[in-house]
Amino acid sequence: MALKRILSGMRPTGRLHLGNLHGALGNWVELQNSGNYDCFYFVADWHAITSEYASTESIRENGVNMVIDWLAAGLDPAKSTLFVQSAVKEHAELFLLLSMITPLAWLQRNPTYKEMQAELTSKDLSTFGFLGYPVLQAADIIMYKAYGVPVGVDQLPHVELTREIARRFNFIYQKEVFPVPEPLLADVPKLLGVDGRKMSKSYDNAIYLSDRGADLHQKVTSMFTDPQRMRKKDPGDPDICNVFTFHKLYSSPETVAEINRACRVADIGCTECKKMLADRIGEQMAPIHERMDYYLEHLHEIYDIIADGNARAAVIARRTMEEVREAVKI
Ligand code: TRP
Ligand code: SF4
Repeated sequence: MALKRILSGMRPTGRLHLGNLHGALGNWVELQNSGNYDCFYFVADWHAITSEYASTESIRENGVNMVIDWLAAGLDPAKSTLFVQSAVKEHAELFLLLSMITPLAWLQRNPTYKEMQAELTSKDLSTFGFLGYPVLQAADIIMYKAYGVPVGVDQLPHVELTREIARRFNFIYQKEVFPVPEPLLADVPKLLGVDGRKMSKSYDNAIYLSDRGADLHQKVTSMFTDPQRMRKKDPGDPDICNVFTFHKLYSSPETVAEINRACRVADIGCTECKKMLADRIGEQMAPIHERMDYYLEHLHEIYDIIADGNARAAVIARRTMEEVREAVKI
């Protein structure tokens, strides 16, 4: 039986951090390794331009670095198709055709649209492309007739819109060209940045996949803990401590239980607790760093992997577009 196809993309914003690893990326790797799916993962570089149109100079480099982080995290080009959106021009053609049938009201009521416009006040996002990017995302997804789309909750409205667009296309052109895709949500632990805010590149509070050694220790040392715990002799509350959340991901159940006990009775200090955490993160990131070093020394392999993925994606995209043109009679 043919494997079910899965598709997801990420904007090339720069190096990935532990929030990404325990969120989307880790889920991608798991889906790949489950052996149940034919996985397509792509660099959404055109999507980056919808908001970064005035400063595009790092998009290409960010895309390559992101693929390095993907491979380091365990995506395997022998199992998954890794490609770059802008290399498969069919995405633009399908986007155009879908834009013809998408009611404006569907886009205007998109919550992410309103939010991002309100938040990113430093950029003028009242553009045609920004309003329409969920249509581009719909094209990305249905191009591959994906059964499932692994995404975070923030992307759910876009997948919902994709479902509506797929149905509308099939209805208007009286042909079941596109399956209606399902969102695949993963359980994602809520990891905060070192300053206690949401971990984000733009807050400068992230621990990156590439952080190691003294840098990693320094970052972990700077993490906010239980704010009520001023001195080592004060008891702490692990339940409100971000360091403890990390321990639950990186330390053994015995260690977690021991910290949980010791913190509450002031048997362990935060400095020691963080040092333990930094050691564990360092250990578990070691294979990721090894792969990262390998690819940084063999950059040409990255370009080959991307070229190969682009070619594999293009075969399917061309096939879909033939069906689409046939249905639209163009
Ligand atoms: N919009 C997504 C984001 O900002 C990226 C994306 C583009 C995507 N096309 C996609 C995700 C298709 C899943 C499927 O993160
Ligand atoms: Fe957090 Fe550890 Fe300090 Fe307790 S001892 S407050 S868990 S850093």
